[in-house]
Amino acid sequence: MLYMAPFQGITTDVFREVYTRHFTGISKLFTPFYTQIDKAKTLRTKKTALSKTSHNGVNVIPQVLSKNADEMKLFATFCSDLGFKEINWNLGCPFPRVANKQRGSGLLPHAEKIDSILEKLMPALPLQLSVKCRLGYHSPDEIFRLLPIFNKYPLTELIVHSRLGVQMYKGEVNLNAFADIVKLSDIKTCYNGDIFSKENFSDIQKRFPGVNIWMLGRGLLADPFLPMRIKEKNIDDNEVLIIRRYVDDLYYAYRQKMNDKPVAINVMKEFWSYLSLSFDNPVKVFGKIKKAKNFDDYEDGVRFAFEQHKWIGNGGTRLAFHKSTGD
Ligand SMILES: Cc1cc2nc3c(=O)[nH]c(=O)nc-3n(C[C@H](O)[C@H](O)[C@H](O)COP(=O)(O)O)c2cc1C
Repeated sequence: MLYMAPFQGITTDVFREVYTRHFTGISKLFTPFYTQIDKAKTLRTKKTALSKTSHNGVNVIPQVLSKNADEMKLFATFCSDLGFKEINWNLGCPFPRVANKQRGSGLLPHAEKIDSILEKLMPALPLQLSVKCRLGYHSPDEIFRLLPIFNKYPLTELIVHSRLGVQMYKGEVNLNAFADIVKLSDIKTCYNGDIFSKENFSDIQKRFPGVNIWMLGRGLLADPFLPMRIKEKNIDDNEVLIIRRYVDDLYYAYRQKMNDKPVAINVMKEFWSYLSLSFDNPVKVFGKIKKAKNFDDYEDGVRFAFEQHKWIGNGGTRLAFHKSTGD
């Protein structure tokens, strides 16, 4: 099974709806994290973005970033009332402004706090809970202190991005640590990190024959066909036509959602920072779109990408290259 990873600012409800309209192969979608949702009033403002429990038949799992059991319970009840069956707890966000407040991956060194949150929360939960975490913030020792705690609770899944918080998105993923986690976890475990092509997916899969859930992140944003390539689904010969329809669909969906305000372009720029990697010259393709100041500039940039450049797919492999060269 393949899951789509959450990306703050990218995998919004609009994106999830449009992506699943054009591509298949994904079994679960995760929302970017919700935070500071300690009041029912704040939560109500999130209702529109959470109005769909599934997109084109693929279930959505809302994600929460919190270190407060009461806040998480409020969020869980809100999601349950909207018809969701599971929420996901973010213990992976590495950004200092989050981690320094002992949230996201910043909570991983504090096993006793995680235990007391789960102890208070689990009996009160109206739906299921899964966890998305890293190996630790400073050291992989942290996850090995946490596994006996996670094992005590009926968590549905443990999704592990096999890096440390301090690594952010750089450096190698630690496959040895993941192998030990699989041995010690009583919870269904999902692998996440640096799956960029069918080939490197096969290599990672061979190392973990007992694992059957895989979460795809930047590789999928760079090449939306990645789940279909991994599953060896038949892809229409004309990939570029499908990509063009997808990009245009997303653009007009955002314009509509944002009442034709130019901020729609900013969201598309973020999206293109990944998609451009699958074109023959990512720097030129993204360079033009990045400069767009209005809808006309943006549309020129898109025409430039499709008319002057070639779609080659598998853009995620370029992320691996950027990583190894320290870009
Ligand atoms: C810009 C950006 C935003 C992200 N937002 C979230 C988020 O809201 N929740 C979360 O759990 N992970 C978030 N992530 C992490 C990804 O979901 C994923 O775990 C990470 O990119 C590793 O997977 P990959 O190597 O396949 O990309 C984010 C990553 C990036 C680069």
